[in-house]
Amino acid sequence: MRHRALGVLRRVVLSFLVLIALGIGAVYARTAWILGRTHDVALPAVALNTTVTDATEARRFTILIGCLSCHGRTGGGGRVSMPGVFELGAPNLTKVLPTYSDAELVRLLRAGVRRDGRTALGMPAATFYPMSDDDLGRVIGYLRSLPPAADRGPGPVRHLSFRARIGLVIGRFRTSMAAIDPSAPRWGEQPRSTPFERGRYLASITCSECHGRTFGGDADAGSPSLAIARGYDLPQFAHLLRTGQPIGGRDLGEMSEAAREDFVNFRDDEIADIFAFLRREFGAP
Ligand code: HEC
Ligand code: HEC
Repeated sequence: MRHRALGVLRRVVLSFLVLIALGIGAVYARTAWILGRTHDVALPAVALNTTVTDATEARRFTILIGCLSCHGRTGGGGRVSMPGVFELGAPNLTKVLPTYSDAELVRLLRAGVRRDGRTALGMPAATFYPMSDDDLGRVIGYLRSLPPAADRGPGPVRHLSFRARIGLVIGRFRTSMAAIDPSAPRWGEQPRSTPFERGRYLASITCSECHGRTFGGDADAGSPSLAIARGYDLPQFAHLLRTGQPIGGRDLGEMSEAAREDFVNFRDDEIADIFAFLRREFGAP
């Protein structure tokens, strides 16, 4: 009797283990498919002007939109990670760009598709999607003009924890392609004659990376809705973007870093435009 009960128990435990193994296998198979499949996305027919007339201004703009935060100040590469969840290598741009045509780069930045047809991962294409042709041309021209840089960062690695893989399967951790809404307006091609319109464009190609496409905040990135800007006046807002210090002065981690390294390069008029946009967008009086 006792013997038989043990036998049943053993079978239950064994079936359970087999199920778990099958589940894990399925998650690995599914993520391999998501990341490995190729997408047939036509090359965009845009004629970019990549002539750099003002290198200082082109560098300032390229820093503001973040290419040189992830790919390193020299373009030599860097690491994008969430400790314990994923680690992704952002490759050496001075080596990768010569292998890409301008049209392939536009496709990568606006659609999230790499040259090999696979989706990029960890490249915020949804943030670059709204960029105007002029600004894309300026950034690509500037990056192509960088001298060959020594390799930095981990190289082309994609380490994903099981948690990150589950996120990919359920769509909470989105690939660069999946994060794009192709029906969203491309603000860079819309009029930019008022502070609201100019601020909307600038915020969409900078703040959206962490605060989300409609600036509602992102729980996984730990970022609040930018409605919080209603509690700021313009000098306080400018101080936050230049120094990373919010009202009250506490350290904001990634936000403070982005401010000190990148946003410190915003001009006064640009900060005023972003402020005007956010206040109106979130219904401040
Ligand atoms: C938030 C970090 C981040 C920012 C900002 C960023 N990148 Fe990347 N980039 C990455 C990562 C991570 C990869 C590796 C993607 C992968 O493994 O699919 C990558 C890959 C690339 C690649 C190579 C794709 C391939 O075929 O392997 C190019 C080219 C590139 N980025 C250009 C740019 C340009 C231009 C900008 C600015 C407009 C930019 N990146 C901004 C993180 C970033
Ligand atoms: C690299 C990611 C990142 C980018 C890019 C970014 N933010 Fe943030 N931001 C955060 C995070 C994370 C927090 C929350 C930090 C905390 O509360 O510890 C935050 C917080 C804030 C806050 C709230 C400060 C407070 O009083 O608590 C404001 C305002 C803000 N960001 C504005 C902006 C604006 C404007 C932009 C674009 C110009 C921007 N952020 C771009 C990550 C980012």
